[in-house]
Amino acid sequence: MTDAGVQVESMRVAFDGVTALRDVSLAVESGEFFTLVGPSGCGKTTMLRAIAGLTDGAEGTVAIDGRDVTDAPPEERNVGMVFQNYALFPHMSVRENVAYGLRFHELADKSEDDRVAELLELVDLGGVADRSPEQLSGGQQQRIALARALAPEPDVLLLDEPLSALDAKLRKRLRVQLQTIQRELDITTIYVTHDQAEALALSDRVAVMHEGRVEQVAVPETVYRDPTSRFVAEFVGDNNLFDGRVTDDGASVAVDGATLPLPAGTAASPGESVTVAVRPEAIAVDDGDEAGADGTTLAATVETVEFLGDAYRVHCRWQGRRIECKTTAANPPAGRVTLRFDAADAQLL
Ligand SMILES: Nc1ncnc2c1ncn2[C@@H]1O[C@H](COP(=O)(O)OP(=O)(O)OP(=O)(O)O)[C@@H](O)[C@H]1O
Ligand SMILES: [Mg+2]
Repeated sequence: MTDAGVQVESMRVAFDGVTALRDVSLAVESGEFFTLVGPSGCGKTTMLRAIAGLTDGAEGTVAIDGRDVTDAPPEERNVGMVFQNYALFPHMSVRENVAYGLRFHELADKSEDDRVAELLELVDLGGVADRSPEQLSGGQQQRIALARALAPEPDVLLLDEPLSALDAKLRKRLRVQLQTIQRELDITTIYVTHDQAEALALSDRVAVMHEGRVEQVAVPETVYRDPTSRFVAEFVGDNNLFDGRVTDDGASVAVDGATLPLPAGTAASPGESVTVAVRPEAIAVDDGDEAGADGTTLAATVETVEFLGDAYRVHCRWQGRRIECKTTAANPPAGRVTLRFDAADAQLL
């Protein structure tokens, strides 16, 4: 770790009986876009609030830019936060909402009006300064909330599902804008989402959370291609998991009477129980039931097909279990098919 942006050590948070965080440590680099992703209730908001100093009874330490802020109140931590649910004060104008972000902040070199104008420009909303929040679209409101959080020039930006209330198209557009602003300001950012696709698209690194713990921290490509646990393999993207036992020669995995190759570059002892994961897009679907030349072939039957626009998602049945594949073939496969994949595209969990 070169430059400490945010360092959390052994964070534990319990709310009478419910343990929200179980001994979580995280190191976010300075200027990094870091995402906490996981299902509802896994502790994402609790983690952000603990970093911001908004959680009573948080055990563990927090350092920001190398400064221990564990005992500092929220206003002395110099973090900007955009909250999950409601964003703006309805009785204040857009301008007043953004200026509110400056309430504890001394401006060294410019007037408050100039700073507010600069922030509205940054989020591309210079024209709506005198409106009230209810006269704005959801996407505009979230950008104002972002401007307010950025107003005091925080060292760290904490974003709790800032796009979750918006429709899919707008969410995509705003996340590009958010990424651009984050790069431009080079501000250490911790972003929370339950949307794994959003996490992969936006982040320098991703922490996958599950039941109050962090299961894996890595760059998006590694989280997707080399999940370290069953939970991560299933939560991030779509996956096919085959539970089986390593064969006596240690070279393959026996699954329901068939053998799958042991994923390339992995080692497991004969007799060991293992799970092999294969992504839908790694499985080729061939018509008919003649076995292909290379790789592993499974004779399956197509059950349902979904048209995705750029591909088909094909749900097949093999040995009584479902296998999901994705193919960019021009026509949807049907009936009896052969599924084929290479050991290099499978992972051992
Ligand atoms: N103030 C509170 N009092 C009691 N329990 C709480 C409180 N805040 C959170 N919890 C519990 O702590 C756990 C983690 O909650 P948290 O809000 O951090 O989840 P989350 O990952 O942000 O979920 P979501 O995606 O739904 O926002 C949950 O079981 C939740 O019910
Ligand atoms: Mg939350």
